[in-house]
Amino acid sequence: MPDKKYTLLEISEKIKTPLATIRDWEKKGLITSSRVNGNTRMFNLNQALNVKRKLSGKSIGIEYKVHKSKPTNFSAIELFSGAGGLALGLSNAGLEAKMLVEIDADSVKTLRKNRPKWDVIEGDIREVDFKKHRKKIDIVIGGFPCQPFSYAGNGKGFGDTRGTLFFEFARCVKEVMPKIAIAENVRGLIKHDGGKTLNTILHMLEKLGYRVACKLLRSQFLDVGQKRERLIVLAIRNDLDYPFIFPRPKDYIFTLKDVLKDCPKSDGAAYPKRKYYIMSKVPEGGYWRDLPIKLQKEYMQGSFYLGGGKTGTARRLSWNSPSLTLVCSPAQGQTERCHPKETRPLTVRESARIQSFPDNWKFEGNLSSQYKQIGNAVPVNMAYFIGKCIIAMLQGTYNNKTMIKEEHVQNQLEFGVKK
Ligand SMILES: C[S@@+](CC[C@H](N)C(=O)[O-])C[C@H]1O[C@@H](n2cnc3c(N)ncnc32)[C@H](O)[C@@H]1O
Repeated sequence: MPDKKYTLLEISEKIKTPLATIRDWEKKGLITSSRVNGNTRMFNLNQALNVKRKLSGKSIGIEYKVHKSKPTNFSAIELFSGAGGLALGLSNAGLEAKMLVEIDADSVKTLRKNRPKWDVIEGDIREVDFKKHRKKIDIVIGGFPCQPFSYAGNGKGFGDTRGTLFFEFARCVKEVMPKIAIAENVRGLIKHDGGKTLNTILHMLEKLGYRVACKLLRSQFLDVGQKRERLIVLAIRNDLDYPFIFPRPKDYIFTLKDVLKDCPKSDGAAYPKRKYYIMSKVPEGGYWRDLPIKLQKEYMQGSFYLGGGKTGTARRLSWNSPSLTLVCSPAQGQTERCHPKETRPLTVRESARIQSFPDNWKFEGNLSSQYKQIGNAVPVNMAYFIGKCIIAMLQGTYNNKTMIKEEHVQNQLEFGVKK
C-alpha cells in the first residue's frame, strides 16, 4: 500500500523540521506533495525523512546504481534513438530493440560501438519503411522533436500532421501496429501551441486504434541524480485490455555526491580566463546573484537591469542536491552547470553519470557532440523503470511497490490539457 500522507504542519512536527524548510525542499524538487480536498497539500513521511537524512549526510541505506534485470522475449523498435539513453534503459529492463533509427552520424557510431549487435538504421526516418514489422513487434517507442501542427482535433485525418516528425512516429505505429506505443517528450509539449500539439498527438493515436494516457515523470524520483522531466504518452492497442502502468516515484533521492562518487576522469570543456575568474567567486549551489555586485554587472551586462531570476546563469551545482537538468552544452549562458567544487564545467563522464549512463558506455564524436548526445538523452534509469512498466503490462504482472496503475484515463491529463 502507498504510504500515508500528512499535511505540511503534521510533517513539520513529525520530523521536527521548520515549515519553511519543508516548503523549500518542495520548491527545489527534493520532495513531492499531492493535493486533496481542493487545495490541502499532503506529504509523504518517509520521503521527508529520507531527504532530511540525506541532506545531513546520513545514509538512507540505498546505494545508487544503474539498474539491470533479466532479458525478456518482447521486442521493440526505437525511433530517434540518439546516443541510446532510452534504448539502454529499456534493454536493462529486459526489452531489446529489434531496430533503431537515428539520423545523427555520431550518435549512430555511439550506438554501434556500445551495442554492435543492435540493428541501427542510420538516416532520415522519413525514408524508413516499417511495414515488414507489421504485428511482429510489441513496442514502438521514441522521442520525436516537437513541432507545431496545423491540425487541432477538428476531425480531419492523420495526414494533417504530415511534414512533422510526430507524423513519422505515427506512421511507424500505423505500419507496425505494436501492442504498445510510447512517445516521450519534454514538458514543454504540454503547453506547446496552447496544448493543441499534445491534443493532436493523443487524438491521432486514438484514430490509429489506441487508448491513450499521459503522465509527467520526474527523474530525481526514479534513481537519477538529476532533476529532469519527461512527458510520457502511453498508447495501448484497442484489442488489448492492459491497464495503464507508470513508474511509482521513489520516496528518496540521489544527490550529485552520490552519483559522482569515484567518477573516472574524462575529457571536458574549460572556461576562458575571465569566466574562470568570475565562476571561481560563485559558491557551491550559488549563481550570478552571489557574486560581488561589480562582477554581477560585468557578467550580466545589460540583463543585470532587466530583472527576472535567471537562476541558471553562472550557476554552480550543489553536492547535496540532484543536478539541475543537463542540456546539450555544459556552459550555456542561462544553463551553466559548473562543478560544485572545481571551477570548470562538468566533464563528459560526469554528465553521463548524471544521466545514469554506466561508465562503460562510450560516446563517439568530438567533445561538443558527446555533450549534445548526453544532454539529449532520456536518463537510463528512468527508461529502465518505464521498461519495467511496459513488461508488466505485456506480461499481466504488476508490482504495487514500484508501479502505479491508472484506471481512469481522463485523469491522466492532469495539466489542464483536455481532449
Ligand atoms: C531527443 S534526441 C533522442 C534521445 C534518445 N531518446 C536518448 O534517450 O538518448 C532526438 C534524436 O532524434 C534524431 N532525429 C532528428 N530528426 C531525425 C530524423 N528525421 N530521422 C531520424 N532521427 C532524427 C536526432 O538526431 C536526435 O538524436
